[in-house]
Amino acid sequence: MIDLRSDTVTLPTLAMREAMAAAAVGDDVYGDDPSVNLLEERLAALLGKEAGLFVPSGTMGNLIAMLSQCARGDEVITARQYHVYCDEAGGAAIVGGIMFAPLEAASDGALDAAAIADTIKPDDFHNPPSRLLCLENTHCGKAIPLARMQQAAEVARANGLKVHLDGARIFNAVRALDVSAGEFAKTADSVSVCLSKGLGAPAGSVLLGARDLIDKSRRIRKFLGGGMRQAGVLAAAGLYALDHHIDRLDDDHTRAQNLADYLNSMNALEAECATNMVFVKCADRGFGGLAETCAKHGVIITEGGEKTRLVLHLGIDDAALATIKEAFTDWRKSTS
Ligand SMILES: Cc1ncc(COP(=O)(O)O)c(C=O)c1O
Repeated sequence: MIDLRSDTVTLPTLAMREAMAAAAVGDDVYGDDPSVNLLEERLAALLGKEAGLFVPSGTMGNLIAMLSQCARGDEVITARQYHVYCDEAGGAAIVGGIMFAPLEAASDGALDAAAIADTIKPDDFHNPPSRLLCLENTHCGKAIPLARMQQAAEVARANGLKVHLDGARIFNAVRALDVSAGEFAKTADSVSVCLSKGLGAPAGSVLLGARDLIDKSRRIRKFLGGGMRQAGVLAAAGLYALDHHIDRLDDDHTRAQNLADYLNSMNALEAECATNMVFVKCADRGFGGLAETCAKHGVIITEGGEKTRLVLHLGIDDAALATIKEAFTDWRKSTS
C-alpha cells in the first residue's frame, strides 16, 4: 500500500533492520546501553548541546522538556496550532499542572515576536509566571526561517523565559533551508528530535539540552515510565537513520513539489507544498469519494474537510508517485 497519511507510517528498511539486529545493547536505565549512549552523544554533538536523552516518543520528549523547565502553575507560551498544545492530550496540564497561553501562528508557521511580547505576563502575583516558550519547526511541513525563530527566542529570553523547540522534523527544515541543525538548536534551551517521522526509524526521540537539564529530565523520564532497558535495538535504527536518511529527505521534498505541481495542473484543485507535505483544496465539490478512489489504486489517504494532507516519505518512490497521480486523475474524472 502507498500510505500518504503521515511520515510516521514508514517501515524500517532491510538495512535498518540489519543494523538493529547487530546492535550492541545493555540496560539503558543503568546507562549501560552503548547504542543508546552513542545516539545521545551523536545527536548532542550535531545540535551543539551538552547531552541527550533517548525517549520513546516525541510527545514524551516535549512533555519532559516542559516538566523539567516549569513548575506547577507556570505558563507555556506556544501556538494553538502546535503539536504540544493540540495533539499531546494535555499532558503538561495533567502531569505538571502547567497552563498554556496559545497564540495564533503566523502564515509562515512561526510565532511572531510581538505577539509573544504581548503575552508574557508581568511579574505580578495575580499572573501565572510565564516560564517557557515552545516553538515548532517544521510546522505543518513549513520550514520556519532561522531569523523568525531567533526573533521569537530573543523576546522570550529578554524576559527570563526558557525556550523549547519541538524539532520533530527539524532535519526537514535543515535540508529545505540549508541551515545547520546546530544553528536552529542555538535558539532553544531544549530540543526534541523525532527519529520515527521522515528519518524512518520505528520509534524514539531524543531530547537535547544542557547537562543539568538532561540529568533532571532522566529522573522525569523514569517517573513517566519512559526508561527502557535494551533500547539499543531502537537506538541502532536511529543511528542508521542519522547516517543514511537525512540527506535523502530532499527526495521527499522534490516528490512533494512534483505532486503539488501535478495537482495544481488539474481543474479546480489547488495544492501547496511545504517540505514533505502537500495540502490540497478542491474548489468545486469537496473531497467526496477521494479516499475510496485512492484505495482502489492502493493509496491510503485521510480525506480532509477543507484541505487534504498528503505526506511524502521514504516509502514513496517514483513508481508510487505515478500511482498517486493516476488515483487523483481517476477521481477527478469520476467527479467532473
Ligand atoms: C510536530 C510534532 N511534534 C511532536 C510529535 C509527537 O511525536 P510522537 O508521535 O512520537 O509522540 C509529532 C507527531 O506527529 C509532531 O508532528
